[in-house]
Amino acid sequence: MLSQDILVVGGGLAGLAAALVSDPQLNVAVLSKVHPLRSHSVAAQGGINAALGNNPEGRDDSWEKHAFDTIKGSDYLADQDIAELMCERAVSTIYELEHLGVPFSRFPGGVIAQRPFGGAGFPRTCYAADRTGLVILHTLYEQSIKRQVKFYNEWLVTKLVVKDGRCLGVVVYDLARGEVMPVKARAVIFATGGYGRVYQRTTNAFINHGSGIGIAYKAGIPLKDMEFVQFHPTSLYDTNILITEGARGEGGYLVNNKGKRFMEDYASSAMELAPRDIVARAIQTEIEKGNGFEDEYVYLDLRLLGEKKIKKRLPGIREICINFAGIDPVEKPIPIQPAQHYSMGGIDVNAQCASIVEGFYAAGECACISIHGANRLGGNSLLDTVVFGKIAGEEASKAVKGSKELKDDEKMLLDEALGMKKKIQEWQTKDSGERVHRLLNRLKVIMSDRVGMFRNKKDLSKAMEKISEIRDDYKRIYISGQCLRYSQELVNIIEFDSMLDLAEVITLGALNREETRGSHFRVDFKDRNDKDWLKHTLVTLKDGKPRVSYKNVNISKYEPKVRTY
Ligand code: FUM
Repeated sequence: MLSQDILVVGGGLAGLAAALVSDPQLNVAVLSKVHPLRSHSVAAQGGINAALGNNPEGRDDSWEKHAFDTIKGSDYLADQDIAELMCERAVSTIYELEHLGVPFSRFPGGVIAQRPFGGAGFPRTCYAADRTGLVILHTLYEQSIKRQVKFYNEWLVTKLVVKDGRCLGVVVYDLARGEVMPVKARAVIFATGGYGRVYQRTTNAFINHGSGIGIAYKAGIPLKDMEFVQFHPTSLYDTNILITEGARGEGGYLVNNKGKRFMEDYASSAMELAPRDIVARAIQTEIEKGNGFEDEYVYLDLRLLGEKKIKKRLPGIREICINFAGIDPVEKPIPIQPAQHYSMGGIDVNAQCASIVEGFYAAGECACISIHGANRLGGNSLLDTVVFGKIAGEEASKAVKGSKELKDDEKMLLDEALGMKKKIQEWQTKDSGERVHRLLNRLKVIMSDRVGMFRNKKDLSKAMEKISEIRDDYKRIYISGQCLRYSQELVNIIEFDSMLDLAEVITLGALNREETRGSHFRVDFKDRNDKDWLKHTLVTLKDGKPRVSYKNVNISKYEPKVRTY
């Protein structure tokens, strides 16, 4: 049986950061369902936050101000000690990335360039034109190769194996060979990303099914704050490809069909650079009021930046607009609409990225360490991946070095792999029933129509009913082909189980939370209610049912205030 000291699941930024810092004396591997350079981190465009103070407008910036902006942006649901930890480490993290070879854009004179981003009091977003995620991912991947990190690519984890509160390893489906097998590990780190594809409109890659989060939930680990789903204000109309917040940071602005910069009605001071929850809702409100175009989108106008600046700072955006919409933003405004973008919630872990299961860690978007609370600020997710990916790798290394080799644990791993094989055989034996793509489409419609940016009790209750109907139909799922090599249908069937769980947990948390906070907007409870709801939601699977509980938010310095921009 394949055996690792540390098994990192996910080859994006959090996973590679974890692998790179793991103790070189340990036997460490990264397992990823795609080639690491195809991980969704590659799509991050606008930048990564750190209070370097390089921008002339940002000289007075500090990590404490960054922490305050993060906490205010979170609508006070972030754990303040954790937000402070991340922001304090941000500056050294950027210089470490620079020394590893990340080609950041520069200001004249050579210092790392920084641009304004939403919800930030100072321009503190470091960037590499509009391809920041891509260049950091490539750099960390090169470093991983240099350090001879072992990679298992195109392997999908199907199960986390836990015995008596201890993680023993995972079961995987190796796509190329079409085989299912166990992998033993003394520590497992999930860095599996988000679940954007649970929604119809999303900026996320096709791989973002969120199955890592679902697998942890199935193993009995609580999910935290899952009702907080971020909608990015500016995705390209129709395809929903991300149009970076950096475009507004550089000076682009939003206009409705009256030619009005409508953000003055919603955030008169920050305007287009208010936090994402506020800007996304403003755009959707304008569209619903009839102030959009074709009832679907508004315009993001970059023309005032001029050709030279667009080509230098936003070359990828220009290329996307030309290739996917036939529009050159140098000449015409870009049609945009909000789309699901990020999950503030995830696997419940502490500041060491450790979960309630011994030997199991999580970092990056799949984890909820409670940094982003009810709304994440743009530029804080790349930072989160690197800072907490490293913490996860360091903590897992310490734990493995201090623990004994596990004995007598192979039988359970083998049994679990056998169980998965039998399940697949059952799906193959049937020749009629439900097809996964149909169920997936039904789920996406429900989540977008009823669990989107504007929520109410009636829609959320209906969504719970519909999810349960789809779950019943999923029992009749079958695989149409017999070949299990690179079976995308099998991948979808396996991951759909997780997607159902995630949809249920998101909806349940949203139904219970009778207030409005950050991205969670209840039209029937329009105010934030700190008295009853300044708390984290935890949902745990017990006896096959989701159980809801709550835990306190860490408020160390900043008393919650009304959030105005
Ligand atoms: O708009 C963007 O470039 C996205 C950045 C982020 O999600 O942090």
